Amino acid sequence: MKQDELKKMAAEAAVEFVEDHMIVGLGTGSTVMHMVTALAKRVKAENLTIVGVSTSRRTEIQAEDLGITMKSIDDVDHVDLTIDGADEVDKSFNGIKGGGAAHAFEKIVATSSTRNLWIVDESKLVDRIGRFPLPIEVIPYGSKKVFARLASENLNPQFRKDDQGNDVITDSGNFIIDLHLGVVEHPHLLANWLSEQVGVLEHGLFLDTVDTVIVGTQDGPKILH
Ligand code: 5RP
Repeated sequence: MKQDELKKMAAEAAVEFVEDHMIVGLGTGSTVMHMVTALAKRVKAENLTIVGVSTSRRTEIQAEDLGITMKSIDDVDHVDLTIDGADEVDKSFNGIKGGGAAHAFEKIVATSSTRNLWIVDESKLVDRIGRFPLPIEVIPYGSKKVFARLASENLNPQFRKDDQGNDVITDSGNFIIDLHLGVVEHPHLLANWLSEQVGVLEHGLFLDTVDTVIVGTQDGPKILH
């Protein structure tokens, strides 16, 4: 099976975790797109009353188009379950997110959510995180200063560009700097250090966030707790 089929497998298994009347956080990315499609089908087929909370404009548009009732994170008092993708996950469920430049909104929704579930294909499972470049969302003002600070710490920063060579701009109008680390030796130390840096809006290290990971594998979906 190809990678996208494994993503779809994990996504379809995840929607079974959604219950009637839940407020559901909807992540961002290609795996989440499969999940939103499957969720909309379930909502229609079973006449479920759920509310979705989006983590990006892309997901919001897709969910609304498919008839899912959507609310902003600030218009709900809690989120029951958030289903999101990830770029890398280790055995302790430390993860890197932000390949789709949405990790700041994703983290806000995740930290407001009672449960967090990630959906990944098996290629995302790693022994140690860091091969995937770690995304940092930075406000444009002074971003070159932040970049210089990251470079001086040997964190191998690179501004993220689109296919035309333009800066990638997030839904909140910020830039993304990717850190090419190879391996993150001390995820909690790095997360704390990055959180202290002025100009950094949010980093893509998600530690102690998820309780369940559903992995699409050649042998079928695997649910890890
Ligand atoms: C977006 C993310 C995505 O969840 C992550 O990049 C995985 O994406 P995909 O499902 O397309 O592989 O963090 O900011």
